Amino acid sequence: MDIVNPAYIKAASIAKQKAHAPYSKFHVGAALISEDGKIFSGCNIESSSYSLTICAERVAIFKAISEGITEFQSIYIATDTEESCPPCGACRQVLWDLAGDIFVVMVNKYGDAKTAMLHQLLPDAFDKDFFEEI
Ligand code: THU
Repeated sequence: MDIVNPAYIKAASIAKQKAHAPYSKFHVGAALISEDGKIFSGCNIESSSYSLTICAERVAIFKAISEGITEFQSIYIATDTEESCPPCGACRQVLWDLAGDIFVVMVNKYGDAKTAMLHQLLPDAFDKDFFEEI
């Protein structure tokens, strides 16, 4: 069973402080944890051409993949909201494709955590296994 680790909550909160979100003012931090416990942090980065914005979770996983890391155990997501905030649909898909069924920890502004396995957030997921039937 996965356990919530306060050090990883802290890493997501520190990443949140780096958010570049002048348009939405919605700050998100992510800490993606590799199988061997290394932290890959990310924050949301917005563009004046809004649709080019990238979420904190995808920054974190693209950093990790680009450094050759491919096995993950969990992702911690921190926001300044009353209710802990789940990852958006696009990030769920990318995390599923690149990290598989990881433990997701969602942390609100008080540091309270909600948890789920990624398959619970993305049931009946589409992925590369469907290509292999062609
Ligand atoms: N955002 C994330 O970073 N992660 C999510 O899962 C949801 C949304 C960011 C994107 C944008 O900069 C801001 O939050 C508002 O949508």
